[in-house]
Amino acid sequence: MSDSNAHPDSGAPTVAATAQLSGILRRVATLGDIINRSVGEGSHPLRVQVDQFDSPVSAVIEGRRTTMFGTNSYLGLNFDPRCIASAETALRQWGTGSTASRVASGNQIGHAQLEREIAEFYGRPDAVIFSTGFMANMGAICGLAAEGDLILYDAFCHASIIDACRASGATFKPFRHNDPEDLGRMLDEATVPASRIVVVLEGLYSVWGDLGAVKDLAEVAKARGALVVVDEAHGLGLYGKHGRGVTELQGAEHLVDAVVGTFSKAVGVIGGYCVTSHPALKALRFMARAYLYTASLPPAVVASARTAIGIIGSEPELRADLWRKAEKFCAGVKGLGYSLCAEPGPVGAIKMRGLVQGIGFWRGLLERGIYVNLLVPPATPGGEVLLRFSVSAAHTDADIERFLGILSDLTVEARTA
Ligand SMILES: Cc1ncc(COP(=O)(O)O)c(C=O)c1O
Repeated sequence: MSDSNAHPDSGAPTVAATAQLSGILRRVATLGDIINRSVGEGSHPLRVQVDQFDSPVSAVIEGRRTTMFGTNSYLGLNFDPRCIASAETALRQWGTGSTASRVASGNQIGHAQLEREIAEFYGRPDAVIFSTGFMANMGAICGLAAEGDLILYDAFCHASIIDACRASGATFKPFRHNDPEDLGRMLDEATVPASRIVVVLEGLYSVWGDLGAVKDLAEVAKARGALVVVDEAHGLGLYGKHGRGVTELQGAEHLVDAVVGTFSKAVGVIGGYCVTSHPALKALRFMARAYLYTASLPPAVVASARTAIGIIGSEPELRADLWRKAEKFCAGVKGLGYSLCAEPGPVGAIKMRGLVQGIGFWRGLLERGIYVNLLVPPATPGGEVLLRFSVSAAHTDADIERFLGILSDLTVEARTA
């Protein structure tokens, strides 16, 4: 690939320019070059610009009407008229932003109401909200663990969990993905008492779309007396009788000390939360820097999140509709001969045979008006190249059939190329 392959508006130095740099700038520019080189000519998976969204799954990209199979709007609530109406009302009454942290003047009645409602939704006495899901992990994990403690986390955990482990000052080690035996061994070999160990895992791992072995892992951790924190960022609204996630689905809620999650996926806005039954965790409000030292959520976001959580709790038919569509989508993909990384569900990944096929299919879909996520190493376990998809209750059957038709055409074209 020549220097001209650097995206024209990326602002990134070209390969030739990189050679002139040294130190930190050279390292950063070299990384940019590697990414540009591997992507080649054409649309760039890291720089897709959406020019317009007019439903949870319909957008305009590169001038083309595009059906989105790569958002996290699982229930379509970001365009639900009731969520929009509550946001509009709050916007007019409270203005655009909170302009301060909760501990300054940014502690509004809506924040307390949202905390009460998310705690009630989980059937727990207490909740703390944060400005993003990333910060909820930072706040919960750094609020709990400190120097001298040990955090054991699933090897597939999200970057926000790993960054939180780093920032906590505790010692942290991964256990093998979904492997209770490995976790048990690490707990037994730990040199700190179990009461100073936090085990962190996820309900749904969103790269492969596989479920966390929440119950099995939590049983192992609780049998030794460790604390258990589960991130249900992708599980909220999708799994469990009441939509509380994989922890609920597996009947493991009594084994979990704190659930962390986000309002940025099924809830359709932004923000994060930590719910717990431990009165001791009230101290998160005084200890979590990600709570103390940042502005609180804007009122319109809070209002919309409250409405969305009410809908998730009271309209299980929305979840049922999502599942019917997800099963149709996954059955169709498998029918075309592709392997999914996990059991069928609303989030999943189709395995590609390497980068060339992955980029080719990703671009082929985009050029025909379908958006999915292209995931490449090092963001993927096992160095796989994956087309990651998400299905929404807002998709129509026709959207899914169109996707399958295009995937089928691309498959035939790839075979004959
Ligand atoms: C498991 C997990 N935790 C936390 C986050 C961060 O959430 P947010 O985007 O709301 O900051 C994500 C986002 O993708 C996630 O997948």
